[in-house]
Amino acid sequence: MGSVSEELTLVPLHRRPELLEACAELLREEWGRSRAARLHTLQRSSDSFPTCLLLLRGRGPGPCPLLGHVRLSRVAARPHSLFVESVVVARALRGQGYGRRLMEATEQWARARGFRCLHLSTHDKQHFYAHLGFVLGEPVQSVAFLSPAIPAEVLRLFSTRPGADTTTTTTTTRPRLPPAPPARPSPPAAPAPPPPPPNVIWARGVLAESSGRSLLETPHHDAKGLPIFWMKKDI
Ligand SMILES: CC(C)(COP(=O)(O)OP(=O)(O)OC[C@H]1O[C@@H](n2cnc3c(N)ncnc32)[C@H](O)[C@@H]1OP(=O)(O)O)[C@@H](O)C(=O)NCCC(=O)NCCS
Repeated sequence: MGSVSEELTLVPLHRRPELLEACAELLREEWGRSRAARLHTLQRSSDSFPTCLLLLRGRGPGPCPLLGHVRLSRVAARPHSLFVESVVVARALRGQGYGRRLMEATEQWARARGFRCLHLSTHDKQHFYAHLGFVLGEPVQSVAFLSPAIPAEVLRLFSTRPGADTTTTTTTTRPRLPPAPPARPSPPAAPAPPPPPPNVIWARGVLAESSGRSLLETPHHDAKGLPIFWMKKDI
C-alpha cells in the first residue's frame, strides 16, 4: 500500500549507537546469525562505508522506534554506485509501506551524496524491488565483501571496465576505490556511467557466463549455488 504518512527519519546507525542492540535483534530475527557477529558487522558502520541506515519513527534525539535497516557499501570500479543489502522491515510492520519508505529514503540519502546508481542482489524479493523501479542488472562486486582469499586476477574480472588499462598490477586484493563523489548541493554534472563489467558470476566456484532477463528465473547463482537476481536502479 505504501501510504505511510507519519514522520520517519533515516539515520546512520553510528549516529545512534544506542540502537545497536535493537538493530542487531532486527537482523537476527530475520536472518539468524549470532548476536556477536551481527554486532561486529554493525559496529563497522561509518560515513565512509559500509554505512548502516536505520528507518526510525519520529525525529530527534529522543526514543524513536526502529522500523527498518539497510546497509550500503561501495562498488568496485563504480565510484558513483552503492550496493544495497540487508534490507529489512520489522516483521510486525510489513505490508504497511515502510519498505517503500526505507528504499526511497535510501535513494535520497545516496543521491544527496552524489551517487547515481544503486545495485543489489536478491534471492526472492525481485518483484518488490522491480515494483520500486529496479531493473535486472549485471553482477557487481561490493567492497564490503571483498575477501583476501580471492585472487587479484579474478577480482579484476569483476571490477575492471572493458577496455580499461589493466597493465598496472596491484599487490593488494582490494581494488582501490576513488573517494566518494562530492555531496550536494553543488553536484558535478552527472558523468556517464561506466560501461558494465564482463557479465560473469561465481557459480559453485566457477565463473559462469550469464544470459536471459526474467524476474521468474535467473542465470545467476550465489556461492552456495542458489539462484540470485542482480538488480540496479539509476537514482
Ligand atoms: C522486503 C521488505 C523489506 C518489504 O517491506 P514492506 O514494508 O513489507 O513493503 P511495503 O509495504 O513498503 O511495500 C512497498 C510496495 O512493494 C510491494 N511489495 C511488497 N512486497 C512485495 C513482493 N514480495 N513482491 C511484489 N511487491 C511487493 C507492496 O505491494 C507495495 O506496493 P505499493 O507501494 O505500490 O502499494 C520486507 O518484506 C522484509 O523486511 N522482508 C524480509 C527481509 C527481506 O527479505 N529483505 C530483502 C532481502 S533482498
